[in-house]
Amino acid sequence: MVEFILNNKEVSTDLPRGMLLLDFVRYYKNLTGTKIGCREGDCGACTVLIGELQNDEVRYRSFTSCLTPLGNIDGKHVVTIEGVNMSGLNPVQQAMCDNSATQCGFCTPGFIVSLAGFCLSDKQATQQNAIAAVDGNICRCTGYKSIERAAAQVAELMQNRGEEEPIKFVTNNNILPAYFSTIKQRLKSLSLLLNGNLHKANLNSPLPRRERAGEGVFVGGGTDLYVQKHDEMKHTHSHFMFNRGELNSVSKKSNKCIIGPSATVTDLYESEIFKEYFPQFKKQVKLVSSTPIRNMATIGGNFINASPIGDFTIFFLALDATLVLSNGTKKRELPLRNLYKGYKTLDRKPEEFIAKIYFDLPDRNTLFNFDKVSKRTNLDIASVNSAISISMKGDVIKDAHISAGGVGPVPMLLKKTSSYLAGKVLSEELITEATEIAQSEISPISDARGTEEYKRLLLSQLIKAHFITLFPTLKVEELLLN
Ligand SMILES: Cc1cc2nc3c(=O)[nH]c(=O)nc-3n(C[C@H](O)[C@H](O)[C@H](O)COP(=O)(O)OP(=O)(O)OC[C@H]3O[C@@H](n4cnc5c(N)ncnc54)[C@H](O)[C@@H]3O)c2cc1C
Ligand code: FES
Ligand code: FES
Repeated sequence: MVEFILNNKEVSTDLPRGMLLLDFVRYYKNLTGTKIGCREGDCGACTVLIGELQNDEVRYRSFTSCLTPLGNIDGKHVVTIEGVNMSGLNPVQQAMCDNSATQCGFCTPGFIVSLAGFCLSDKQATQQNAIAAVDGNICRCTGYKSIERAAAQVAELMQNRGEEEPIKFVTNNNILPAYFSTIKQRLKSLSLLLNGNLHKANLNSPLPRRERAGEGVFVGGGTDLYVQKHDEMKHTHSHFMFNRGELNSVSKKSNKCIIGPSATVTDLYESEIFKEYFPQFKKQVKLVSSTPIRNMATIGGNFINASPIGDFTIFFLALDATLVLSNGTKKRELPLRNLYKGYKTLDRKPEEFIAKIYFDLPDRNTLFNFDKVSKRTNLDIASVNSAISISMKGDVIKDAHISAGGVGPVPMLLKKTSSYLAGKVLSEELITEATEIAQSEISPISDARGTEEYKRLLLSQLIKAHFITLFPTLKVEELLLN
C-alpha cells in the first residue's frame, strides 16, 4: 500500500510500488494535465512537485513523474497542474498568458508547475532563480524569450515575501490555492498513520529474504533504472531506498563528511557542509542535468550505475571516497576507486547496498576542482569529465588525486598521473608532463560523444584547466594552446 496526498486529497493504492507516478495520475486519477513527452526525464512535460516534511516545514521539489515510482512518494504531497488551479487563472498561469509564453500548450503545464515550485521555495525572488526553476522544461514552439518574461513576472509576484514563510505568502496572496496551508498538518497525520516505518526503518535490520538472496533491485531516485527499463520496473521486486530518511543525510564528524547513498545532488548542493568546503559546487552542479533530475538523482545511484562518465563518481573518486556496503547484517568498506572491475562490472554482490559514503573534507591546504565538457553546456552528459584534489605545502604538491571519465571503460582515478605529481614543485612543465602521463593511462574509444583523439585532447585540456582554475597566478593559459 502506498499512501500520499495528491493535490488536495489523501489517496492510498495497492497498485505496484514500481508503477510510475505519471501513469498513476493520468490513467488511474484522470489527471491528464500532466503530459507524456519523452518519458526519459528530458522534456519536463510531466513535471510535478513533491512536498515532504523537513525540519517541521514542507519542502517542495520538482520531479519528472515519468521516472518516479509510486514507492518513492509514500507519505508525501504530490502536486500536479490540477493542484495549482484556482478559480480563473492563478497568477503564475496569468504570467504565461500575459507574455504569450504558450502556443500549442503541450509543455505549458510543466512550466507552470516548475514556476509554482519556485514560488513555494525559499529561493530569492530573482528573475535568474525563476528561470533556473524551468531549466528542466523544454518548449518546442513558443520560443524561450516570452517564457523568460513570464518567469520574470512570477519573480515579481514573490518580491515582497521578505522573510515570510513561502507557503504562507503564496496562500495569503492568492498565488496558489489556500489548501497548501493545510498540507503540513496533513503530512504529519499521514506520517503517524504510516507509523514512521518509512522514515525510521533501521539500517541494521536484516534485509527481507528475497533481497538477502540477491533478488530484486535497489531503487534510488530511479533516474537511470526507469530510463533503461521503465516497463519492466513496474513488476520488478524492488527495494526503495529513496524514501528512507536516514539514507539521505549529509553530515560531518571531525574532518569526515558522511553522506547517505540516497542523498540527492540537490541535498548536497543545499547542505551547509558543501557550501563551506566546496564553494564552487553551486557552479559545478549546474553542469549536471536539470533541476528536477538533480532533485531525484542520488549519489549512490550514480556510483552503482557505473557509467564511465557519471559526474558524481568522478567528483568523489578525486576525493578518494569510501563506501560502506551492507547486506543488512554484514558490512564492509570499499574505496570507491576499487569498485569498478570492468565496464559495468562491480566489486559488489547483488544483495549488497551502499549504506554510507564518507571522505576526508579538504583542509586549508587542499584545493578541489571539477569540470566537464559535453556537446551542450546544459542538460547533457559529459564527453569527458575530470576532478582534482590537490594538497600543497608551499609550492610543493604534497598529494594529488585526479579522476577522469569518458576516457576508458570505467570511471578512472589516474593513479600514475596523481602519484607523479606528488612531492614535486608545481610548474608549467610539470603540468605538461602530467598531461602526457595521463595519456598513457587512458583508453578512450570513438563514439557519439567524440572521437578518441578528441577525448584525449579534452582530458589534457581539462587537467590544464584544473590548474588554471586553482592556481590563477600560474601562467599556464598558453599551455591550453599547445
Ligand atoms: C535527463 C537526465 C539527465 C541526466 N544527466 C546526468 C548528468 O548530467 N550527469 C550524470 O552523472 N548523470 C546524469 N543522469 C543519470 C542519472 O541521473 C544519475 O546517474 C543518477 O545519479 C542516478 O541516481 P538514481 O538514484 O536516480 O539511480 P537509480 O536509477 O535509482 O539507480 C541506478 C543504479 O543504482 C542502484 N542503486 C541505487 N541506490 C543504491 C544503493 N543505495 N545501493 C546499491 N545500489 C543502488 C540501482 O539498483 C541501479 O542499478 C541523467 C539522467 C537523466 C534521466
Ligand atoms: S515525459 Fe519528458 S521528462 Fe517526463
Ligand atoms: S507551447 Fe508548444 S511545446 Fe511549448
